[in-house]
Amino acid sequence: MRDPSVSLFMRAPHSPPGDPVVGNALRFARSPFDFLDTLSSSYAEGVVHLSGMAGPGIYVVLDPDLVQRVLVDDHARYRKPQLRPELVDPLIGEGLLTSEGDLWKRQRTTLQPAFFTSRLRGFGDTIVDFTRATTAGWRDGGELDVHHELGVLTVRIISRLLLGVDLSRADAVDVAEAMERVGETLALSPGNVVRPPWLQTPPPREYQQAIRELEDVTARITAMHDPGGDDVLSLLQRAIGDDPDAFPADERRDQVMTMLLAGHETTALTLTYALSLLSATPDARAELRSEADTVVDGTPTWGDLASLDYTERVVHETLRLLPPVWALFRQPLADARLGEYRIPEGAPMMLPQWALHRSRRHWDAPLTFDPDRWRETKPAEVAAYFPFGAGPRACIGRQLAIVEAKLILATLFAEWDVAVTADELPRRAAITMQPTEPVPAVVRRR
Ligand code: HEM
Repeated sequence: MRDPSVSLFMRAPHSPPGDPVVGNALRFARSPFDFLDTLSSSYAEGVVHLSGMAGPGIYVVLDPDLVQRVLVDDHARYRKPQLRPELVDPLIGEGLLTSEGDLWKRQRTTLQPAFFTSRLRGFGDTIVDFTRATTAGWRDGGELDVHHELGVLTVRIISRLLLGVDLSRADAVDVAEAMERVGETLALSPGNVVRPPWLQTPPPREYQQAIRELEDVTARITAMHDPGGDDVLSLLQRAIGDDPDAFPADERRDQVMTMLLAGHETTALTLTYALSLLSATPDARAELRSEADTVVDGTPTWGDLASLDYTERVVHETLRLLPPVWALFRQPLADARLGEYRIPEGAPMMLPQWALHRSRRHWDAPLTFDPDRWRETKPAEVAAYFPFGAGPRACIGRQLAIVEAKLILATLFAEWDVAVTADELPRRAAITMQPTEPVPAVVRRR
């Protein structure tokens, strides 16, 4: 769709100085989070152009109103770009996260009922039971990798809630570990940022192996599945029943892989980062514990959610300070006007939560973990806060993620103290922001 307001006299976005050959690409790829921090603190510009990336470079949107313009008001003028298709296609193909146009619309409409509140309400006990099954294996005073534990837990929860299947712990471990290896390959690195688009290399062998392992579990999930419910697989199967050509087997496979990827890792990361931030902020941890003691009578329930206010603020604040999805990507379908800037057709654009959630321009004491900043402010009212995206392509699992994170935190803190012992968590920028090392924590029974 042509944008009639585009004119040749509009400004080209400013490019920060960089290497004459590779521009800013290497600095960005070597240390993406520090680089984005520098961009958002040094430039008052709404859009900045990073040169030297493969192809036309990348346009970084640093103004929250322009982010909302792209995601919400003018969303029809943009699409998701195909970033690294040689890796992403074999992983999630055309599942709900990556599909476009009519295919996406049909998928979103078909799958939406799996995420209705009326359906999720029935799963509060399941989330608590799976959490308790996890902690049943913990030893008082023991040390564990909390990111791994929570990854396995959220795979089991997602499989039950969205795919209607009780996955064994061994299968859940396989999924979490295979996803970890996938993340290592997908992570930004100097090599993959400056490589020209025509120089495609096949996916590394360990990546292909990880996908095969995920496909094995996906096949077991499909075989175990009992249709008839409102889970994702049942909804897809019903759609196939009405129109045999509507959902080819590939698409079913892509959706299961998408749910496993999008549904487990983001929530596991939110919980891991929450535990890390709480461990570094004793007052917040004490407050959370005290809320669990006051609200929860033995076992947390769906009914407790409305009273777990502080726990909810902890989740919002974690998603602000350490957003698991650190940036969104789009490209204009035709030359576009964004504020006073001109963005050429097809150019990749980055909308970085990492920069906007942590900018002094939009937050008081942005690097302080302060759950109470959400006491009077609703997340939906803040343009510079978009951990779940915005507009029609906003996260379909948003409510589920918040419910899950609150119930898991309440279940953990009602019975356990979890102290992350690492001061720093080195992180890589894959589709999500992931720790590159195990996250050690000591767990003590309360
Ligand atoms: C705290 C946890 C989560 C975070 C931070 C998160 C974040 C996001 C974001 C930012 C997007 C938008 C991507 C874009 O516009 O390019 C998204 C989309 C999506 N998320 Fe989540 N998500 C979370 C949990 C979940 C869960 C539990 C599911 C369950 C399956 C899920 C499934 C999806 C799917 C399928 C999409 C694509 C939706 C569409 O394009 O129609 N997410 N998520």
